Amino acid sequence: MGRTLLDDSFFEALEISDGDIASASTLPPACYVDEDFYRFEQEALFNHEWLCVGRESQVAAPGDYFTTRIIGEPIIVARDRGGEIRAMSAVCQHRAMLVAEGAGNARGFVCPYHHWVYGLDGALVNAPAMERTCDFDKKAIRLPPFKVELWQGFVFINFDPAAAPLAPRLAAISAAIANYDLACAQTLSPMTGQFAWNWKVMFENNNDGYHASKLHQGPLHDFVPSERATFPEADPADAGFLRFNGTLHPDASFNPTQRAVLPIFPKLTEEDRGRMTFANLPPTLSLVMSSDLVIYLILRPTGVASMEQDTGLLVAPGAMEDPAFEHRLEMIMTSAKKIIAQDMHVDERVQAGLQSRFATRGRYSWQEGAQGQLNRWLVRRYRQAWKASKAASEL
Ligand code: FES
Ligand SMILES: [Fe+2]
Repeated sequence: MGRTLLDDSFFEALEISDGDIASASTLPPACYVDEDFYRFEQEALFNHEWLCVGRESQVAAPGDYFTTRIIGEPIIVARDRGGEIRAMSAVCQHRAMLVAEGAGNARGFVCPYHHWVYGLDGALVNAPAMERTCDFDKKAIRLPPFKVELWQGFVFINFDPAAAPLAPRLAAISAAIANYDLACAQTLSPMTGQFAWNWKVMFENNNDGYHASKLHQGPLHDFVPSERATFPEADPADAGFLRFNGTLHPDASFNPTQRAVLPIFPKLTEEDRGRMTFANLPPTLSLVMSSDLVIYLILRPTGVASMEQDTGLLVAPGAMEDPAFEHRLEMIMTSAKKIIAQDMHVDERVQAGLQSRFATRGRYSWQEGAQGQLNRWLVRRYRQAWKASKAASEL
């Protein structure tokens, strides 16, 4: 057996996942279970793509900050005194203690270990008892900054200082979801969970229209039938893709009444209200959009077969003012939890299946158009990164 399966033939064989859904096959199981592939993928995707880390509302006021971690990198997102949102590494440039954990409001970050002090912009502003240290230039030291971009009230970061801007490559998605006006939506605090499967298993499940009428068959889901799924063509340069799923009646919502129970996003058109919209910004963000509620899922891999996910909710402005809001929301969440439990069971068992030597590269139904879109997004980047890594090793 070879030491690694990553070679030219492996990447050439990815091509058959990158075609029309009628002739495509799934990615090789190794892409979900192989440690070498996961290491490769961190560089191919996560070190260069825009990564969603949360909502702007989590840092509403100057001094507000929150921390997160993706592919093992501890990150601080903070709003500085001037009102600008900054993102930076949380790793102290002295001896690598994390200068902040959790979330809060602060004037700056005092490293708990030896009390080096960093400003909200990451600049080192104080370092006690360093006056005898030769060539120590406080001004040259800062928490390593990351690029930040805001889109629809979401905060994105990029580890790659040369990354191209995100928004121009989201024009199609921005237009399709414009009427939800998500930048003005109210955000409910997200819940974070840990899951024992590859991040793509989760991302694919979030975007899968095929299983809707099968796994979720029953009165809590039948009004969003698989055969009403459509998949607008994404441009290869786009940073994401869409799935629309027509519903059997307008303002369908996941609760026993099958209809919206919260205020409807006020600018939605009849067309918007006759379907659910799924907007996908790999590798981290999935939006599940109905007339009265948008669920956002932020995925963060923590290993080849483990990940963390924030599940957050967005509602129309003013929705929370209804004294019955919590009870209404509970109607949706009780149903949503049942649906999510079915998905989680599948995700866990799919990961087990992918680890088997009998796992294969399967074929797709037309109702899996979103998997084709994700494959196109992935394979293009995997192949580019493989080419780049080979070129670098030949230097
Ligand atoms: S590790 Fe942060 S001050 Fe020493
Ligand atoms: Fe599902």
